[in-house]
Amino acid sequence: MSKFPDGFLWGGALAANQCEGAYLEDGKGLSVPDVIKGGTMDTPRMVTTTIHEGEYYPSHEAIDFYHRYKEDIALFGEMGFKCLRVSINWSRIFPTGEDEEPNQAGIDFYRSMFEEMHKNGIEPLVTLSHYELPFALAKKYGGWSNRKLIDLFVRYTKLCFTEYKGLVKLWITFNEINCLCAPFGNVMGAGIMPPEDNTLLDFSVKVEWDDEQRRYQALHHQFVASALAVKAAHEIDPENKVACMIASRAVYPYSCRPEDVLLAQKMERICNHYCGDVHARGAYPSWAPRLWEEKGVSIDMEPGDEQILAEGKVDFYTFSYYKSSTVSTDPTVEAGTGNVFYDDALNPYLKFSDWGWAIDPKGLRWYLNDMYDRYQIPLMVVENGLGAADTVEEDGSIHDDYRIDYMREHVEQMAEAVHDGVDLMGYTMWGPIDIVSAGTGEMKKRYGFVYVDKHNDGSGDLRRAKKDSFFWFKKVCETNGEELQDPSSAHGVIRDSCVYLAR
Ligand code: BG6
Repeated sequence: MSKFPDGFLWGGALAANQCEGAYLEDGKGLSVPDVIKGGTMDTPRMVTTTIHEGEYYPSHEAIDFYHRYKEDIALFGEMGFKCLRVSINWSRIFPTGEDEEPNQAGIDFYRSMFEEMHKNGIEPLVTLSHYELPFALAKKYGGWSNRKLIDLFVRYTKLCFTEYKGLVKLWITFNEINCLCAPFGNVMGAGIMPPEDNTLLDFSVKVEWDDEQRRYQALHHQFVASALAVKAAHEIDPENKVACMIASRAVYPYSCRPEDVLLAQKMERICNHYCGDVHARGAYPSWAPRLWEEKGVSIDMEPGDEQILAEGKVDFYTFSYYKSSTVSTDPTVEAGTGNVFYDDALNPYLKFSDWGWAIDPKGLRWYLNDMYDRYQIPLMVVENGLGAADTVEEDGSIHDDYRIDYMREHVEQMAEAVHDGVDLMGYTMWGPIDIVSAGTGEMKKRYGFVYVDKHNDGSGDLRRAKKDSFFWFKKVCETNGEELQDPSSAHGVIRDSCVYLAR
């Protein structure tokens, strides 16, 4: 018998802005990522107030999924995906976010994409907002800091639930909503833009324009919008199931000093439970007022907000997991690096990816158990993977054993968690085909089973090629997670297939 339940949703996850390209095609409006330039691990991405002609913005072409989704989805079907997580780019449906009429071409595009998934036996899981606010709303209203966005979002989501009724049943409201608990959330999560051109990720120095009051207020607006969307989804189609999505932070204390232990608890609360509780329990946690007091934040709530939150609880809980996190109260402890949260200490027991993210499969088991104990609703891992530079051999093959090792070890820990009693629905790894990195804007940081000939400077002919991990994951899907064996035994067999796919 498989360690994973029948119907387990194996698959991959993408975000529109990181794969589609066609950034102004068929009536689409500008969205926030369209004004964020490419960067690297050492050079932070620049957020610009307008588009600078002649400069490189990776979302503008990305990997051209907009024109190639049929071939790409066929590859996912060939691997045996049961589920594909994608996002709808709001500005393809409502180009400015508040247009009187929706953009029919955008609606048709996503309908065709969902139909294509079904043809390939793939269940769509759709994120309604994955760092993709219409830029016009960021400019005009200061993004989610303005309550006005609640109604605009609800209108957009109702249209999606109605248009795609019967085609999509699994939804996520906001990607990594808890990124708003950190400065990274300003631009990506809330569309709160810097007053002038500024870096996206360089938080080693204090970000002058970061305003916690504004961020936490924006987060409250998103909570209310999410709860209203959950309610609407159920009303429009009782078969709809809606989830929250949290950037998980499995937090360890650096030492057993009580101060470190308390700090770890505090970080776990702020980073995971603050948002998880509102979504899954329908109310802010009891310690929230003290947190607001300590931060000097006061949340402006309208009468009825608490009831909306209570009535808009999610059906399942999804999260991204890339790494665990270690915290210390000792300033002399060496610092580590992270994606959304930047106050890690270096964990001496773990290895790190080339981009400095701690590799910790057991942290995934810890997190699954912790969240299931707390919320008792089905969980789903909707992002996990290894960002790594790949080498294309002369014969076109790509031997990415490091990526297979990373995923195999995480899948093994998921099996342990299922054995522990966790109700786990599925696993959609991040970036099944190479896409633009959200954090650094690079192509070099690749996650995919499918390689894309596209590079940091925008060059490349966009051809696709299967990596070794493609064949490994195919086996995982076919055997419902039973066959996780070392791919090295498979090299000889698969090499022939690893040449570029003809287009
Ligand atoms: C998550 C985001 O934080 O991490 C994705 O939801 C992102 O959009 C992923 O791509 C990996 O991060 P990065 O910076 O390596 O692309």
